[in-house]
Amino acid sequence: MFEHLKAQPQDKIMALMIAFREDTRDNKVDLGVGVYKDPTGNTPVMKAVKNAEKQLWEAETTKSYTALGGDPAFVKALSTLVLADSVDEARLAGAAQPGGTGAIHQAIELVKMANPGATIWLSAPTWPNHPSIIKHLGMKMAEYRYFDNDSRAVDFAGMMADLGNVTTGDVVLLHGCCHNPTGANLTTAEWEEVADFLVKKGALPLIDIAYQGFGDGLDADAEGTRIVCSTVPEALVAASCSKNFGVYRERTGLLLAVSPDEEKQKLAQQNLTHLNRQNFSFPPDHGARVVQMILTDPALRQEWETELEEVRTGMLRLRKSLADGLRQRTNSDNFDFIADHRGMFSRLGATPEQVEHMREKHGIYMVGDSRMNIAGLNDKTVDILADAIVDAGV
Ligand code: LMR
Repeated sequence: MFEHLKAQPQDKIMALMIAFREDTRDNKVDLGVGVYKDPTGNTPVMKAVKNAEKQLWEAETTKSYTALGGDPAFVKALSTLVLADSVDEARLAGAAQPGGTGAIHQAIELVKMANPGATIWLSAPTWPNHPSIIKHLGMKMAEYRYFDNDSRAVDFAGMMADLGNVTTGDVVLLHGCCHNPTGANLTTAEWEEVADFLVKKGALPLIDIAYQGFGDGLDADAEGTRIVCSTVPEALVAASCSKNFGVYRERTGLLLAVSPDEEKQKLAQQNLTHLNRQNFSFPPDHGARVVQMILTDPALRQEWETELEEVRTGMLRLRKSLADGLRQRTNSDNFDFIADHRGMFSRLGATPEQVEHMREKHGIYMVGDSRMNIAGLNDKTVDILADAIVDAGV
């Protein structure tokens, strides 16, 4: 039977991760997969996570099943982190998911069950796994302009013009903050315009929020999501804890459905739970429990917020340092956008040949579309990267 299987396209981020591991050079620099690295190149377990795990180890008396939708205390704690009080709890359905990817997959399955003919609109560019999952689930998709390659900022006029082709019942996938792969984000006024537009069109927003706390702060990064969710009658939100809690391998995420009324909330909740049962039964619990403990225990929360803030400001400092280094080297402001972007990533705007040149000659690994993971840099490698960018003629 297996001879009927077709070879699947390689995920370019995963392929890059393997290529980096196989490179034997000592001075190689990993700016590929979106994983935070401290100045010594490690991805540490956050202190609050370690402390919560210690407490959990002491207190946990059973590994028996939780609930199909995950522990309700986790759902409540994480939905509060994302939405604060922007949506009445009675309108919210939610289910824990294996990571942000699990939440996106489940969201698209839910859309398929509700409206199989919907087109899912994606920013150009977007995280490559978005179109891959949509294709896998056999749904239609279309792109809207998002990134202006010249200014390296959001092409908002282009975005709204393309979204003009959205029809009622379509889904518009938005990045809640820290756009992946570009680092260019909507302003508050633009979020408001998008929210009003979605209401007018009768389109469903699906917001992927995977980097809350990595851009301008926990509340600032959730602002767009809150604006949309408090404006539209229905929305889906896929939240990930991989990055902001550093629990990548624990697969901790949440899918939220905002409904117009309590009756549809019940239906949405029942369908989310049903989907979990079909796909994996109970979602992973360890990471979710740790996150819930951190969010609800004042001491753990303080510890986590302090460390997250250090991570965030560290990335901002690296952004500024790289932009300054390139300003000096090129005698121009062509790279100032790096300091303006937010989150883990920036799209540099290099050609695939220039990206290849930086990999071959300088051991610098970035995704082929020139997405760089700023969190993969440190004070020393900022200079190496700045030299390589100039050497490659970007
Ligand atoms: C990334 O974009 O690098 C991360 O979201 C990790 C992944 O799964 O691709």
